[in-house]
Amino acid sequence: MILARFVHLLVVSIFLGVCEAGLTSSYVRETGIATDMPLDSDVFRVPVGYNAPQQVHITQGDHEGRGVIVSWITPDEVGSTSVLYWAENSQHKKTVNGDVVRYKYYNYTSGYIHHCTINDLEFDTKYYYVVGWGNVTRKFWFVTPPRPGPDVPYTFGLIGDLGQTRNSNQTVTHYEMNPANGQSILFVGDLSYADSYPLHDNTRWDTWGRFVERNVAYQPWIWTAGNHEIDYLPEIGETIPFKPFTYRYWTPYKASNSTSPLWYSIKRASAYIIVLSSYSAYAIYTPQYKWFINELTKVNRTETPWLIVLMHSPLYSSYVHHYMEGETMRVMYEEFLVKYKVDVVFAGHVHAYERSERISNIQYNVVNGLCTPINDDSAPVYITIGDGGNQEGLLTEMTEPQPEYSAYREPSYGHGIFDIKNRTHAYFGWHRNQDGFAVEADSLWLVNRYWKTGKSSVA
Ligand SMILES: *[C@@H]1O[C@H](CO)[C@@H](O)[C@H](O)[C@H]1NC(C)=O
Ligand SMILES: *[C@@H]1O[C@H](CO)[C@@H](O)[C@H](O)[C@H]1NC(C)=O
Ligand SMILES: *[C@@H]1O[C@H](CO)[C@@H](O)[C@H](O)[C@H]1NC(C)=O
Ligand SMILES: *[C@@H]1O[C@H](CO)[C@@H](O)[C@H](O)[C@H]1NC(C)=O
Ligand SMILES: *[C@@H]1O[C@H](CO)[C@@H](O)[C@H](O)[C@H]1NC(C)=O
Ligand SMILES: *[C@@H]1O[C@H](CO)[C@@H](O)[C@H](O)[C@H]1NC(C)=O
Ligand SMILES: [Fe+2]
Repeated sequence: MILARFVHLLVVSIFLGVCEAGLTSSYVRETGIATDMPLDSDVFRVPVGYNAPQQVHITQGDHEGRGVIVSWITPDEVGSTSVLYWAENSQHKKTVNGDVVRYKYYNYTSGYIHHCTINDLEFDTKYYYVVGWGNVTRKFWFVTPPRPGPDVPYTFGLIGDLGQTRNSNQTVTHYEMNPANGQSILFVGDLSYADSYPLHDNTRWDTWGRFVERNVAYQPWIWTAGNHEIDYLPEIGETIPFKPFTYRYWTPYKASNSTSPLWYSIKRASAYIIVLSSYSAYAIYTPQYKWFINELTKVNRTETPWLIVLMHSPLYSSYVHHYMEGETMRVMYEEFLVKYKVDVVFAGHVHAYERSERISNIQYNVVNGLCTPINDDSAPVYITIGDGGNQEGLLTEMTEPQPEYSAYREPSYGHGIFDIKNRTHAYFGWHRNQDGFAVEADSLWLVNRYWKTGKSSVA
């Protein structure tokens, strides 16, 4: 079996060498539908002690990278609502107070969900923080990003559609063990898959929160909403979309003048990241549209050369499942992605991996028949990375033949690393769970769309 896989890889490598068309990987792996890890799994263990804070997670808390939102849940009573924090090299400890929210979902009542925003941190500094009170306090740490600037190296991890199966656990482990060392995760939507349970059993939101704590308590995950965050179930009276997600996972949307936590932007080191919601109104005249188009005009590519867009549903995907679900957003937004020279668009939703060529399909006007994507030097690369490993399993059916725009596609679980070197160069690697921690199954050098022509004297 191992030998067979080796031969497969060899064949793939040879194929890669001689053929310039897109590649459909022939790598073979187990594709059966996975089940969630049982409730008594080690990853779901409740921290010991009365009312111990659990599901600790952080995300960026401002626009520039000097803010962090620290969130956690206390199960029994409110407890302390503040976070104690200090810089690694300082004895000066500070306290910041936060908010507590709770929600009901049918007959489920959440714990006390705490959100504390720490502002005005120093750039590029390690901080310790403590949550909890009395005998049960828990201590974690994070490192703030460097001040935004054109040649600041920074490494993002990419994870999507994670869920809580053994495959999910393997994806997180591979990310943690990857020597490429991500400093923050761009999460492209579909977190817990609690909605796969009867009544959308929200205790599976809690288990997911405890599972990912080992990473997200130490490095910010930048959240994108997916369809599994909608939790719309009118049959039982749950008619507010995104209720559990928006109570549990806050985003710094106000800092980018957005009016919804579901779309927002941040600067982080040399990257400007715009997060969109595939499941909120996005047509012309809507709040998301107006915000997004205005946002693109604000990006200063001298300060943040790398313009990255995150969304859940891919605009380009050649898998059979979810085929063309992103098409209406593509029709609305693609011309702007090209006009403003977005470097890369990351999406999830399709439980597989795919990378596009730099192509666009914006010349079509209903009557001219020009509806085939063409090579476009100003267009982003589209990367689908919905392969975190949830209980729905992998999507293996692909449209055939592989479209010209599709550069590489493979249904395997894994994660990505987007490694910014300087204003002109970034390296993307896709890591499959079945390989060693350092192995890349697909990779690509990206040349910045704004700086590629050497616009060194232009802001
Ligand atoms: C909610 O209702 C379901 C179905 O009636 C039941 O199985 C479950 O135990 C209830 N949960 C709570 C927390 O009451
Ligand atoms: C801490 O633990 C001790 C021993 O269990 C207990 O007597 C005390 O009341 C606890 N203090 C708090 C603040 O919970
Ligand atoms: C999840 O992964 C961690 C780290 O590799 C491991 O210690 C743990 O036992 C795994 N748990 C399950 C349920 O697979
Ligand atoms: C948000 O709007 C305010 C007021 O117009 C402006 O001062 C601020 O710079 C804006 N923030 C961002 C991140 O665009
Ligand atoms: C863009 O950013 C650079 C570097 O931070 C700065 O010098 C320049 O003034 C900014 N341009 C504008 C138009 O704000
Ligand atoms: C940017 O990084 C690339 C890749 O590491 C390197 O080849 C190039 O020389 C760097 N450019 C500058 C101006 O340092
Ligand atoms: Fe999805």
